[in-house]
Amino acid sequence: MNTVIIYKSKYGSTKEYAEYINRNIPDSELFSVEEFDIKNLNSYKNVILGSSVYAGMTFYNSFLINNWSILKNKNVFVFAVGMLPEDHPNSKDAYKQIPVHIRKKIQYIKLPGRVVFSKLNLFEKFIIKMIDNKEKLGVADMVDLEKANSVVFFFKQEK
Ligand SMILES: Cc1cc2nc3c(=O)[nH]c(=O)nc-3n(C[C@H](O)[C@H](O)[C@H](O)COP(=O)(O)O)c2cc1C
Repeated sequence: MNTVIIYKSKYGSTKEYAEYINRNIPDSELFSVEEFDIKNLNSYKNVILGSSVYAGMTFYNSFLINNWSILKNKNVFVFAVGMLPEDHPNSKDAYKQIPVHIRKKIQYIKLPGRVVFSKLNLFEKFIIKMIDNKEKLGVADMVDLEKANSVVFFFKQEK
């Protein structure tokens, strides 16, 4: 296998994007970060990391930093999934948490996420209400799998 997709998802929307990318890149393998065996990282040419964003935090920051000595020689694409658009200050700050020398060498995209309010715990409901009041976003169901095509096309070219 040429390509590995490693994702972290709490409520399933990031997993849906990861599965979509997996279906559309024929020689790819899919793992959640919890099940992925880090010893196998070096065997792939292409690495796709997908993470939901909670309070500006993603799993891939530490993953990129801790494994950069291996990843720097690979094609790396990171996709973040969240309810705030890519040009929102919160999204920009989350992106800037990736060290500059790593940012320069990877591809990045933010994809629209989904909030199913009834599934959230009390604390999460409170946070969402606060963000929603401030941003006037409306709690949305916005997963749009087609938007993940830029990830698919990139690796079809790189193959
Ligand atoms: C408590 C909480 C905090 C969140 N914080 C952010 C955030 O900082 N930025 C963002 O874009 N989306 C944020 N979201 C939205 C989630 O990233 C979005 O629902 C995403 O689709 C969840 O992915 P998952 O279904 O894979 O867990 C937040 C959601 C919750 C419940």
